[in-house]
Amino acid sequence: MSSLTNQIAVVTGAGRGIGRAIALKFANEGAEVVVVSRTQENSEKVANEIGALGGKAWAFAVDVADSAAVSAAAEKILADCGKVDILVNNAGVTRDGLVMRMSDADWDTVLNTNLKGAFFVTKAFSRAMLKARAGRIINISSVIGLIGNAGQSNYAASKAGLIGFTQSCAREFAGRGITVNAIAPGFIETDMTAELNEALRAEILKKIPLGCLGQSEDIAAAALYLAGASGRYVTGQVLTVDGGMVM
Ligand SMILES: NC(=O)c1ccc[n+]([C@@H]2O[C@H](COP(=O)([O-])OP(=O)(O)OC[C@H]3O[C@@H](n4cnc5c(N)ncnc54)[C@H](OP(=O)(O)O)[C@@H]3O)[C@@H](O)[C@H]2O)c1
Repeated sequence: MSSLTNQIAVVTGAGRGIGRAIALKFANEGAEVVVVSRTQENSEKVANEIGALGGKAWAFAVDVADSAAVSAAAEKILADCGKVDILVNNAGVTRDGLVMRMSDADWDTVLNTNLKGAFFVTKAFSRAMLKARAGRIINISSVIGLIGNAGQSNYAASKAGLIGFTQSCAREFAGRGITVNAIAPGFIETDMTAELNEALRAEILKKIPLGCLGQSEDIAAAALYLAGASGRYVTGQVLTVDGGMVM
């Protein structure tokens, strides 16, 4: 039996990149996966990939920053799937800019998606988890939430906030057997980092002791550790997966 057999996992931002890798990894371990992204097309693509590998998946297009849309989707997911065992809050965006020049809209978009979105989704599924007295919640933060980054004040604030949210939820839900942890990825090869120019990429590489960017699968492996039996006694932690960049 695989490690996540009979488990239902909801993964937000699973249409591409890290979320997609987590969805595929969990499905490969026997979980049934609810693939959530902004676009139905991307969600369906990943759900079909899981189906083609012999797994079971549902595809949803939900804007995690829209409280009403999240509530409605959660209700439907719980009705369709009967339960949710694992929740991964992975949906995230960047809108980089120096503080002096950052628009209010760019600040809001990043905070609303990365932080408020995780709150909306967690709130929507926590009742079912609390009732079941079991659950795993994994929030995808970032090393930028630990050390900051010039030009990413909105993103750093959202990811640092997500760590505080993680620790608070971990304390709130622990009595009901629910663990809540964060993963702080370093620089991972996805669409998000594909925008980096060569000079910036070279600068970043100098700061990574292992000498390369990470792959989405590296984060998926960490998520599996926290979601599976191996993560049973781990809660309120930030697992940094960054090639040694922050130590
Ligand atoms: N890549 C890195 O180096 C890195 C490092 C540290 C942390 N992270 C974090 O890891 C997570 C995934 O990053 P990634 O690099 O895989 O990003 P990505 O390739 O840009 O993919 C982002 C995913 O999030 C979804 N999404 C964005 N806004 C959403 C919203 N409002 N509602 C629902 N879904 C939304 C996108 O949906 P569509 O597919 O429909 O567009 C997409 O599936 C993010 O939270 C990011 O901050 C990434």
